[in-house]
Amino acid sequence: MSALTTTVEDGIAVVTFDLPGEPVNKLSDAVKVEFEALLIRLRDDQAIRAAVLISGKPDSFIAGADIDEFSALTTESAAERLSFEGQEMVNRVEALAKPVVAAIHGACLGGGLELALACHYRVATDHPRTQLGLPEVQLGLLPAAGGCQRLPRLIGARAALDMILTGRSERGARALRLGLVDELAPPSILSAAAVAAADRVARQGPPRRSPGGGLQAYFLDRTAAGRRMVYRAAEKRVRARTGGHYPAPLRALDAVRVGLEQGVTAGLAEEHRAFGELAVGEVSRKLVQVFFATAALKKDDGIPPGMAVPRQIRRLGVVGAGFMGAGIAGTAALNVEVDTRLKDADLVRVGKGLKAAGAPLAERLRRKRLTRPQYERLGALLSGGDDYRGFARADLVIEAVFEDLELKRRVLMEVEAVTRPEAIFASNTSTIPIREIAARAERPDRVLGMHFFSPVEKMPLLEVIPTDATAAEAIVTAVRFGRRMGKTVIVVADQPGFWVNRILSPYLNEAAILLTEGVPIEVIDRTMTAWGFPVGPIALLDEVGLDVAQRAGGVMHASFGDRLRPPETLARLLAEGRLGRKNGRGFYRYRDGHKAGADDSVYPLLGVRPVEDADPSVVERRLVYAMLNEAAMAMDDDVVRSPRDGDIGALFGIGFPAFRGGPLRLVDDLTAARVVDVLRDLEDVHGPRFAPAASLLEMDAHGHRYYPA
Ligand code: NAI
Repeated sequence: MSALTTTVEDGIAVVTFDLPGEPVNKLSDAVKVEFEALLIRLRDDQAIRAAVLISGKPDSFIAGADIDEFSALTTESAAERLSFEGQEMVNRVEALAKPVVAAIHGACLGGGLELALACHYRVATDHPRTQLGLPEVQLGLLPAAGGCQRLPRLIGARAALDMILTGRSERGARALRLGLVDELAPPSILSAAAVAAADRVARQGPPRRSPGGGLQAYFLDRTAAGRRMVYRAAEKRVRARTGGHYPAPLRALDAVRVGLEQGVTAGLAEEHRAFGELAVGEVSRKLVQVFFATAALKKDDGIPPGMAVPRQIRRLGVVGAGFMGAGIAGTAALNVEVDTRLKDADLVRVGKGLKAAGAPLAERLRRKRLTRPQYERLGALLSGGDDYRGFARADLVIEAVFEDLELKRRVLMEVEAVTRPEAIFASNTSTIPIREIAARAERPDRVLGMHFFSPVEKMPLLEVIPTDATAAEAIVTAVRFGRRMGKTVIVVADQPGFWVNRILSPYLNEAAILLTEGVPIEVIDRTMTAWGFPVGPIALLDEVGLDVAQRAGGVMHASFGDRLRPPETLARLLAEGRLGRKNGRGFYRYRDGHKAGADDSVYPLLGVRPVEDADPSVVERRLVYAMLNEAAMAMDDDVVRSPRDGDIGALFGIGFPAFRGGPLRLVDDLTAARVVDVLRDLEDVHGPRFAPAASLLEMDAHGHRYYPA
């Protein structure tokens, strides 16, 4: 079956791209062959004056290159050839003597946008699904089918670098403002508008595109001296963001620079050379694995396929309109567009909760991501009260009241009394076993945990926690609902700390122990941000809140014994009324809500003097291996269903560096033997908390790994 069908009317060929058997259009070798044939026909058929390229898929113009195809490449030269062939094909589109108009609706990403850039005119829809971007750097690659050449020439070096180096995509309206597309059309007339444009361009030639923006823009984008400043600033931003761990953005910057300063041919050569190197490099390999793992999780309902069907959620109830409850309600209204009812103890708190829940909507209105009518419609989904009115119709109730077992049990009882028997009850507890909360439930099969992370709107992970009694239907419903909220969902066991807080616990403890030894706050945090975490462990404690961290640490200690005994550090700070960022006093000082340096008064509080010659490599080793060992132990306890879930949980739950693939990937890369060796050394110096997990010894003995080699 072919992917391209062509109809000709009045000299305009309309080419519809519809990849058989796939939800989205992708560029593959097979598609490329068809395209080549098409281009010859367009060139030679005297009846054709111009062409329109449009997609037959509902949500994608072309979503990019087929990732399966290039991730199967094993040699640098094969990868380089793939890029080179892509460049050739795209060049042929541009060189065609007849105009080609790209009619863009849905995802126009990566190779898809590179192809559109080679067309002679672009019409895009103003629909939110329409996204134009070059996300290659997110896979550790660079746009290597001419994207680093054509984009800067079209929209200027600054705007192009902004898109290429971050991988961020733009909607239609912004793409028009940038000059990335020539015209905007509603989806219903996209095809007609593109045909009209093709006819016009065939008769009058392409439109003159004048770079706007005045003198300064002219200087920065169009003069060599100005561009030098742009490159320098871009490089600085990349280095700050990637910490030097991700080579792709810098290579992309080179490809843009070489192209603009030495010409397109040199730029294209730089593109395919860099693509060859990056595609078989370690970082890209890891990022592609993460991409596949995330994609697989999007299809994984947490239960064996076909075991149960998800319930439709027409109304959501949220009990507790505090920090988390409001975040959950707001994210549900925004992303799921579901009718959401908030309940708290009194109307003042309800009011505050509703305001907080509506904040992301207001923010989007301000940034023009929502129109006023959309904003009002979504805002109207949020309502609240100090009683359970409206809960009778709820299909799912999420509880986010204070972390108190008796309170949570009572709330569950109250909810069971007012909801329908099929309604599902989810607790957002971070430390209490779900089975304890469900112990007195009338319908324990409808109870589970949905553990969100703060801030809910931003954090991409959700842990769904069934108990032994939870029905499959409840699990699949919670997983699907979480996904619609925009979360990557892992199903984890009902054990203390679940997965994320379990592996975090010894890591945070170790950071606190290092402090009691006088290792300065900045040394600890800087070591771990240099290793690739977005924030260091001490700053993370401040973010989480010292009271919250203290309580969680206590639970972990009670459950797992001495290995997870927290030092006195937090207790001492708490005794001084330090709660972390939330009251502006923690390990750091805060000014106007911003971190303003480590607080030196912490050291006398802890009775230590900061040491001057702390060795970052020792700090790193203790922190990293504490987490790796705990991850291995949690695997022994079957906390997650697979290494894939564990690694994704670490990446999305705590910002474990993506280029390292996750803690379990890292164990594989280091080998169990090496991990055991280091842990034994640490155990000798620091005691039994570093004793290697049983499974690591086993893996070492048998040469096993978490993932197939
Ligand atoms: P919070 O203190 O901001 O909010 C709790 C809310 O529950 C308050 O507004 C309180 O008035 C309300 N509440 C208490 N009793 C109630 C009742 N009987 N009926 C209705 N509302 C009642 O606390 P936060 O931080 O939102 O935490 C809520 C839950 O989420 C806790 O179980 C916590 O462990 C969990 N959690 C917290 C995270 C965090 O980072 N703060 C992260 C993940 C989970």
